[in-house]
Amino acid sequence: MKYITLIILLSISKSLTFANTIKSLPDTLVHGKVLFDIDGKPINAHGPGVMYHQGVYYLFGEIKNGKTWLVPGQNWEDYRVPAGGISCYSSTDMKHWKYSGIALKPVVNDPDNDLDTGRVIERPKVIYNEHTKKFVMWMHIDKNDYNYSRGGVAISDSPAGPYKYLGGVKPNGQMLRDMTLFKDENNKAYLIYSSENNNTMHVCLLSDNYLKPTTTYVRIFENKRRESPAIFKNKGKYYLITSGCTGWSPNAASYAVADHVMGPWKELGNPCKGPNAEVTFFSQGAFVLPVTSKPGKFIFMGDVWNKTDLEKSRYLWLPLNFNDDKIEIHNP
Ligand code: GAL
Repeated sequence: MKYITLIILLSISKSLTFANTIKSLPDTLVHGKVLFDIDGKPINAHGPGVMYHQGVYYLFGEIKNGKTWLVPGQNWEDYRVPAGGISCYSSTDMKHWKYSGIALKPVVNDPDNDLDTGRVIERPKVIYNEHTKKFVMWMHIDKNDYNYSRGGVAISDSPAGPYKYLGGVKPNGQMLRDMTLFKDENNKAYLIYSSENNNTMHVCLLSDNYLKPTTTYVRIFENKRRESPAIFKNKGKYYLITSGCTGWSPNAASYAVADHVMGPWKELGNPCKGPNAEVTFFSQGAFVLPVTSKPGKFIFMGDVWNKTDLEKSRYLWLPLNFNDDKIEIHNP
């Protein structure tokens, strides 16, 4: 299918540093391939997030397995697949990914449980709390009609898990759907999520142990209907890339910049340039990964959704370029 275009980082000599990887990206992109782990199995980690910890990149994502169905009585975009929990893969070079198991297991035949396979578990993100020495995972927890709209939180003593689910919360009584997590250099952490029925995004400061939202939050992109937030910081500025709200179908990304994570955020339009930029190269953003060994280098990570067969959704990882303090994403 036309938009099942997959772009992954491949074929990079082991001796190259990741900085070199980025420099040589145009030569090393492969189109239309599945991203495989080192055992040759397709990587099943959608809506991903990556945590870098002690020399290792840990990739977390939604496990989509089982038959995709259309939710009866819902609109044309409401395709679902059993919530398979959260997977974890690890890598030291972003090229060889080792499957590290199920970081957070789903629950079977317990429809009242947030982690039941009949529900929705999306966009997991993990950060490390230096003070409590715990790894903290936040994710979007929902029911099939997406009206439950909560942030689920889980903790673990080790990066790959297993994670223990602590429960779901509506921060300050507000809905939480597409979300991401951000840990700042001063160790303060924030939840950023589509709220108010996807009309407005919120940025909420987390408690010092990262397990609870605080009452400190701001409303951003009021009535702009943005989702799939992906945030990063470069040279003291915060950048937030979001998508529009068209379910599993791609649309134009947009980004904003701020001097503080709580805003004000200045909107600067679509960072994607070139053919198919208006549909984010057929993807939807999920995360921006800072390349630890090279300050100032970032990878935009998107999902190329296959809405009628969600397990076959692919990934798009592209370098993010700076043009002064504007960002650009090109699909070479
Ligand atoms: C998208 C969202 C995905 C998923 C999907 C369900 O807009 O970004 O994470 O929730 O809707 O239709």
